[in-house]
Amino acid sequence: MKLNIALLPGDGIGPEIMTQALNVTKAVCGKFGHELTYKEAIVGARAIDETGDPYPTETHELCMQSDAVLFGAIGDPKYDNDPSAKVRPEQGLLRMRKQLGLYGNIRPVMTFPSLVHKSPLRAELVEGADFVCIRELTGGMYFGRPQGRSEDGNTAYDTCVYTREEIERILHLAYRFAGQRRKKLTVVDKANVIATSRLWRQVAQEIAPTYPDIETDYLFVDNAAMRIIQWPKSFDVMVTENLFGDILTDEASVITGSLGLLPSASIGLHTSVFEPIHGSYPQAAGKNIANPLAMILSVALMFEYSFNKMEEGALIREAVNASLEAGVVTEDIANGGKVYKTSEVGEWIEQYINDSMI
Ligand code: IPM
Ligand code: MG
Repeated sequence: MKLNIALLPGDGIGPEIMTQALNVTKAVCGKFGHELTYKEAIVGARAIDETGDPYPTETHELCMQSDAVLFGAIGDPKYDNDPSAKVRPEQGLLRMRKQLGLYGNIRPVMTFPSLVHKSPLRAELVEGADFVCIRELTGGMYFGRPQGRSEDGNTAYDTCVYTREEIERILHLAYRFAGQRRKKLTVVDKANVIATSRLWRQVAQEIAPTYPDIETDYLFVDNAAMRIIQWPKSFDVMVTENLFGDILTDEASVITGSLGLLPSASIGLHTSVFEPIHGSYPQAAGKNIANPLAMILSVALMFEYSFNKMEEGALIREAVNASLEAGVVTEDIANGGKVYKTSEVGEWIEQYINDSMI
């Protein structure tokens, strides 16, 4: 098979984890006889520095022409600490999501047996937790207008907007996932207070009977936040709006033990994008210490979702698990044991793939 992918390493630790992801992709392609072509483009703070635009047209065009996009991370402290900056790296990410129509963000939350002790939750709560959070990604408060400040600067406003169509398509996507898993969908909203949430719940209640083999339940977001910590195993597939999904998935990542472990897939109308859920971790940039696993697991999702290559995805997961079990891990999960560099972890995984018997 021919794979034509775009690489958007972005800012902070993005480039160094992308190098490892690319090497793993090459190893898998070598193993399974796929022909890989790839091109790199700029995004985020780096793109602002070079072109003034965090998501330049050339970058968008490259994404549109590719079969899949691997995305590192964006963000830079020089913008975080300057609330008056007009152009921000995050705008590049949001525009990419909007322009590629990436309405569905899939964030699997799983545990790794060898890391159960890293979770701040008790082992018996965490062991075997395995759910998928489906976050709506192109609507809600992130994109609603008007957004801004009053003339005197002392009042600020955001607008949360959802249409029936946006809610329906993300719910159908979530039901498809639930249908392939344990057949339980939890719809998370704040329908007791917020108008958009009431529309979500109404639309969900209309759609639910058309999926009779799937159990649908409803939780308010505050309650869902509590249950993720109290009883993570009660979830199978969870679906929610953009901002709630942003918050709940960072929370859910602690179940796994490190934010550096969770991959995501963003799918929608055009090319899909695969990215770790963590940010650009600027304090670690260039130090070769960041955990490359979330990025490498994003490559597994790419093989599965964009190319329907399940064995390739499974081999990457197997290699990642093996590295964890062998204790070849970065400092965030080393737990007092030997600490490996980003590149050492990546190379170990690459070697495992090269040596595998497939
Ligand atoms: C995420 C990130 C982004 C978001 C930021 C970097 C804009 O937190 O992908 O979860 O809020 O969506
Ligand atoms: Mg986030």
